[in-house]
Amino acid sequence: MKIGILTGGGDCPGLNAVVRGVTKSALRRGWEVIGFRDGYRGLVEKDFLPLHDHDVSGILTRGGTILGTSNTANPFAYTLAPLGSCEKPKDLSRLAFQNFRDLGLDALVAIGGDGTLTMAQQLYKRGMPVVGVPKTIDNDLSATDVTFGFDSALNVATEAVDRVHTTAQSHHRVMIVETMGRYAGWIALRAGIAGGGDIILLPEIPYRAKDIIGAVLERKRRGKKFSIVVVAEGARPGKGKMTVTRMVKGSPDPMRLGGVSYKIAEILDNSSIGLESRVVVLGHVQRGGEPTPFDRWLATGFGVKASELLAKKRFGQMVSFRDYGFTAVSIAEAVGKLRRVQPGAQEVRTALALGVSFGNSRITG
Ligand code: F6P
Repeated sequence: MKIGILTGGGDCPGLNAVVRGVTKSALRRGWEVIGFRDGYRGLVEKDFLPLHDHDVSGILTRGGTILGTSNTANPFAYTLAPLGSCEKPKDLSRLAFQNFRDLGLDALVAIGGDGTLTMAQQLYKRGMPVVGVPKTIDNDLSATDVTFGFDSALNVATEAVDRVHTTAQSHHRVMIVETMGRYAGWIALRAGIAGGGDIILLPEIPYRAKDIIGAVLERKRRGKKFSIVVVAEGARPGKGKMTVTRMVKGSPDPMRLGGVSYKIAEILDNSSIGLESRVVVLGHVQRGGEPTPFDRWLATGFGVKASELLAKKRFGQMVSFRDYGFTAVSIAEAVGKLRRVQPGAQEVRTALALGVSFGNSRITG
């Protein structure tokens, strides 16, 4: 067999571990492997590099992706110059198929989130033998219990929550730490619990200004003259909207969130809590750096499972991690269904039992 690999969408720690896992196990089966540069751009523009054992040696611990990635390159609506343009996206899927054939490929491994996998599914429906590997720091794909990148992001976010504790305590302040996660609150929830946050604000539980203020005052009454708020970038007030920082032209999901923490600071600054507040927006720091051991392990297992699916010609499938085992689900089933925090979930109740506020007094566990 000759296989192509690409990494699409936002990067995250563990992508290289998957590339290594697929490549090493494929080479050991006697297959040939190439990597496309910058996601689907490489497939459309025939930009690739051969992957030999020495190319993937030493990349297990490296963050990002040695292949490069793009969150705008879509073969069905191509916006990248010189072949496409943002004003007039072009359907270049025929060219992608032509390149696939010209290169003598038997299969494509698409490593990415919802957008990349949706495109993989479209290619598969038109006849390309594709296997998917799910990635995202957001951990919001419903067809797998966990995605690699999440644990690494969680470590960064938790360390940030740990670190702001001492400065919050010294200055008697409210420190507000904003995490990524898009429309799901997993990073904020787990970092909030693991880091001992006092108020956790999630997209899934709309907050109420008076309940955030109430939670800080309640702590003050108990002699705690500081509070730590962990807020997911997608958090929003009841009836209110999410905070959008920019729109990215050509992206399958163009809305970029960010900045809600400043709104929370404003709510607190305009209240009578008598404490100053400060904001820390973690942003892309959560996506950078080395993957944690868990993510290296998970990503390696995903990579090896992907080449097993290729060997069995189980195309149109995506690797998944369920009940502590590696398995496969159809990509069609996996895409478009987000896994979000349920307000009644065990871990929400765990936090409530400790006195954590979700900024909404109706959520009582
Ligand atoms: O989906 C991963 C993610 O990091 C989200 O948590 C975040 O909202 C978004 O991507 C940021 O995207 P970009 O890298 O395009 O700014």
